[in-house]
Amino acid sequence: MLPRRADKGAATLRWVRYHARMVQLVSTLAIGIRTMSTAHPRAFIDLFSDTMTRPSPGMRKAMAEAEVGDEQRGEDPTTNALQERVAALLGKEAAMFLPSGTMCNQIAVAVHCRSGDEIIATDNSHLFTFEGAGGAAIAGAQGRSVPHEQGIFTGAAVHAAVRDPTMRHSPRSRMVAIEQTQNLGGGAVWSEAQIADVAKAAQAHALILHMDGARLPNAVVASGVSAAKMCAAFDSAWLDLSKGLGCPIGGVLAGSKDFIAEAWRWKHRLGGALRQSGILAAAGLYALDHNWERLAEDHANAQRFAVLAGAVKGIKLMFAKTATNLVFLDTTGTGKSAKEISEACLRHGVRIGAMGPTRLRAVTHLDVQAADIETAAKALRAAVG
Ligand SMILES: Cc1ncc(COP(=O)(O)O)c(C=O)c1O
Repeated sequence: MLPRRADKGAATLRWVRYHARMVQLVSTLAIGIRTMSTAHPRAFIDLFSDTMTRPSPGMRKAMAEAEVGDEQRGEDPTTNALQERVAALLGKEAAMFLPSGTMCNQIAVAVHCRSGDEIIATDNSHLFTFEGAGGAAIAGAQGRSVPHEQGIFTGAAVHAAVRDPTMRHSPRSRMVAIEQTQNLGGGAVWSEAQIADVAKAAQAHALILHMDGARLPNAVVASGVSAAKMCAAFDSAWLDLSKGLGCPIGGVLAGSKDFIAEAWRWKHRLGGALRQSGILAAAGLYALDHNWERLAEDHANAQRFAVLAGAVKGIKLMFAKTATNLVFLDTTGTGKSAKEISEACLRHGVRIGAMGPTRLRAVTHLDVQAADIETAAKALRAAVG
């Protein structure tokens, strides 16, 4: 009996020690993660994306103090306020808060398109490239790419892409989607005239017009054209809160009352309906008040970085003009891959994304200061060698 009791005591001791070690490990990890997420490390300059921003103290305060309710029942006053604000900003009847920009695009496609329909957009659009073929998988719609310059296409391209409606074996052309600004087109801004040209063609064929406005605020600030004017011809449009505006999450999709009513069905269906989302919507309202106009700084920083990066031996700017906050670089002339240069930059405390074998993308945002641009360019120079 005695030995057995001794065994039991030793086992208990081992159990206690093991759990103490686990508790210690978990708390060490938690402290580490907390430090990582709240620190504002100047030692590390993150040009990977404008989604890398951290909520500022002012934004966090607004979130903490938000009035909340059940969003699914329309009882969250802060979410309602954000929706009304964005609807007015985009000149639409109604708007809906969603967890992501991707969901804004996919819900719009699902409302507008039926199985067998076709969407006209560019091969480099986020819709066709980075959304897991959601248009096909969710709505049953296929994509048709049109020729473009930095993601910007013409009314003539739309005319040429529209299927003959009398051809019963063709898909039905249903929707035209543009991206404002065009991400993989180097942050190019659609001008009013370019939008009008495409809108006229779309209307001639009774096509739905949709705007992916992930960086619509950047386009507004860069061009001086109001968001409402830019979105006037569109049946649906949205803006992202988690990019240049610096929120932790969210996008707001806008359109007619009927469109938003139908979008609500999809929001529930896809599990995007929320509860006390006012905590997040408060960040959005704060961003609209504080982080909109300052996007001009990001554009100036991107332009400065483009000048400095373009002067690095072997590096070539992919696009002649830096219109907003995205800078694309071609590394071919350096004899090194984008990945090699990106990794070397990281060793100098700067993150620049490798977006292809020889393509780098640097993105400015509110956690990047003007002084960081010189440091980042220096790191790129050192990385190229
Ligand atoms: C042009 C464009 N559209 C849509 C999205 C999707 O936004 P989210 O990451 O919020 O889903 C992105 C994200 O990078 C984007 O750049």
